[in-house]
Amino acid sequence: MTEKEMKDLGYKIIDHIVHHRLNFETKEVSNIGSYASLSEQVKKEMPMHGENPEAVFDELNSLIKNNIVHLDHPRFFSFIPGPSNYYSILADTLATGYNVFAGHWLGGSAAAMIETRTITWLTQIAGYPKESGGLFVSGGSMANLTAIVAARTNKLKDDYTKGTIYYSEQTHSSLSKALRVIGFQEQNMRKIATHENFEINIQELERTLDEDIKKGCIPCCIIGNAGTTNTGAIDDFDALSRISEKYNAWFHIDAAYGGATLLSEAYKAQVKGIEKADSITLDPHKWWFQPYEMGCLLVKDKKTLKASFAVQAEYLDDTIKDEKEINYYDYGVQLSRSFRALKLYTYFRCEGLTKIGGYVTQGIKNAEFLETLFNAKDYWEVLSKPSIGIISFRAKVTAANINNDALNAEVSKHLSESGYAMITTTKLKGHLALRMCPIHPETTKEHLSKTVAIMNSYIEHKIKMAGNKAS
Ligand SMILES: Cc1ncc(COP(=O)(O)O)c(C=O)c1O
Repeated sequence: MTEKEMKDLGYKIIDHIVHHRLNFETKEVSNIGSYASLSEQVKKEMPMHGENPEAVFDELNSLIKNNIVHLDHPRFFSFIPGPSNYYSILADTLATGYNVFAGHWLGGSAAAMIETRTITWLTQIAGYPKESGGLFVSGGSMANLTAIVAARTNKLKDDYTKGTIYYSEQTHSSLSKALRVIGFQEQNMRKIATHENFEINIQELERTLDEDIKKGCIPCCIIGNAGTTNTGAIDDFDALSRISEKYNAWFHIDAAYGGATLLSEAYKAQVKGIEKADSITLDPHKWWFQPYEMGCLLVKDKKTLKASFAVQAEYLDDTIKDEKEINYYDYGVQLSRSFRALKLYTYFRCEGLTKIGGYVTQGIKNAEFLETLFNAKDYWEVLSKPSIGIISFRAKVTAANINNDALNAEVSKHLSESGYAMITTTKLKGHLALRMCPIHPETTKEHLSKTVAIMNSYIEHKIKMAGNKAS
């Protein structure tokens, strides 16, 4: 391509991105393409000959924007949103533009230094000591996997068969998946019951540990949650830390969702004690507004990561020089790694931690505001009080011909089809439930009120049709 062609195409793409980021208000949140339609639209024939790049990019821009759920939309309240931010989008573009290799110091020295500096900031934010460290990975799932590999090496050495892992039944599925990936069997995974408020039941945990030890099991790792995905529940870190010490188990905290709260002056006390963990999963592509993919694992003692992952290879000998010049391939699974750190480092510097913490505080207040809206109607039941930005609830109507599980599923579907907002369902206390996670910095009270108003009208219409009363 000529310089002009390269620039013209590049500026056009920037125009698309800027337009996207500035026009959420008029955009529908969800556009889910059908398989039949997308199968027709996405070119089938193998591209043996190059096409006009501008036409290819135009086609792809339309295809993507017309068949997407905007997880970065201020009215996307499902799962955990990914609001992203423009500074990091540009930083990611810069990193890709230089094709930075962030696997070792030799390949990307500035990248390694920026990753190290950003990780140091995060350890300070988490209240970790000087000898702590960590690395950036693809997301929370990979951070959790990396943590349990470290736990396994540290506590079990080479015999994994008797090692048992403990976590609440509300723990994210990525942990069970990671345990399976690294070779733990179902019989070694202990899912501990939770209290009414979805926090791990500490007595139940200790009882299970005692029984296991009698059977000859070796406690390997105890996992706590700083903000469960379903309800934002936060486990008792003081108790988990005490128990981990007593049973000589590694203590990991999955703070993929709630770790962001560390930046909120008003709410950071809710995750106090997080620094007691041997490792912490953070997931900046959630509530620290990073574009995908951006997860992070912090460890209290960075030597534990190297002990778990470093493998000698003669063709990498030239990359080993000064101890200080960190080679991130020794700290995790990947050798070739993209320069993820740049986007978070850039965002922290351009936006500043104080302002980012303010956005997190606002997200938490948004969920609290929603509770007042649900309390105003007697057909809503709040199933879990707002906890660091997540509220779960369900419509509960007494009418012979209304099935409440089906009604809640319909409410979610109706809202999504309206295009105005999106919430998805989960299951809590044996019921189909709705949940909202309103953490986008541009979400307003009007967005929240209108979203609830759409759901209210639907339910009231259903009640009227059923000719019966709400409970
Ligand atoms: C608490 C928690 N842990 C882990 C994960 C997995 O993170 P990721 O999707 O970034 O792999 C999630 C995802 O929502 C989560 O909410």
